[in-house]
Amino acid sequence: MVGRAAVDTLDAIVARRSTGRLTEPAPGGDDLTHILEAAAAAPDHGELRPFRFVVLEGEAKDAFGQVLADAYLHRCAALGAEPTEGQLAKERTKLGRAPLVLVVCAVHRHSEAIPWVEQFAAAAAAAQNALLAATSLGYGSMWRTGDVAYDARVKAALGLGEHDAVVGFLYLGTPHDGEAKPPRRPDLAGLVERWQPPPADPATPE
Ligand SMILES: Cc1cc2nc3c(=O)[nH]c(=O)nc-3n(C[C@H](O)[C@H](O)[C@H](O)COP(=O)(O)O)c2cc1C
Repeated sequence: MVGRAAVDTLDAIVARRSTGRLTEPAPGGDDLTHILEAAAAAPDHGELRPFRFVVLEGEAKDAFGQVLADAYLHRCAALGAEPTEGQLAKERTKLGRAPLVLVVCAVHRHSEAIPWVEQFAAAAAAAQNALLAATSLGYGSMWRTGDVAYDARVKAALGLGEHDAVVGFLYLGTPHDGEAKPPRRPDLAGLVERWQPPPADPATPE
């Protein structure tokens, strides 16, 4: 049980919306523990625990902005492109869009039985669990990726190897007044069908 009134799971699913800019308070203490435990409770074929969660907060988060800026410069150099001051500043400050960023990582486990796609799927489920737990506890959130998620230097700074992956940077905090988006009711049109066996071929003898 969580420490304070949590909203119903189905309500949290429709209430979860991406909020681009978040402010204090960030989840801390028991709330952050609940979010991390929700992430680690994701379905996980073979119980390989193919995920890791890196909390970026405070001065460490600011310092990680420099990692993102350096990675941008290296990507430009590799592509022979001229870096721009604007993009460099954006990379350096983008983590400032929320007071806490939770990096959800998929960690490749050697397994004969469980393919990487399933390990990545477990880590993605962990990310969604974290977002739903945060929503349920009253926080705003946004799952982001972009070039930085696939950059070898960024992965190395997070302690990931070349076979691991960043699943998402989860920005967590509190929406500014009036900035929370309304719940969404997805349109199911074209998304669902009921499978039926094909009609028997009359030419096929019984
Ligand atoms: C794997 C993944 C990566 C995402 N990366 C970004 C991103 O880099 N930038 C962004 O604006 N939104 C990103 N999103 C968020 C989606 O754009 C967002 O969920 C979508 O627009 C639907 O809006 P909602 O979250 O309010 O329902 C990402 C979502 C997922 C699942």
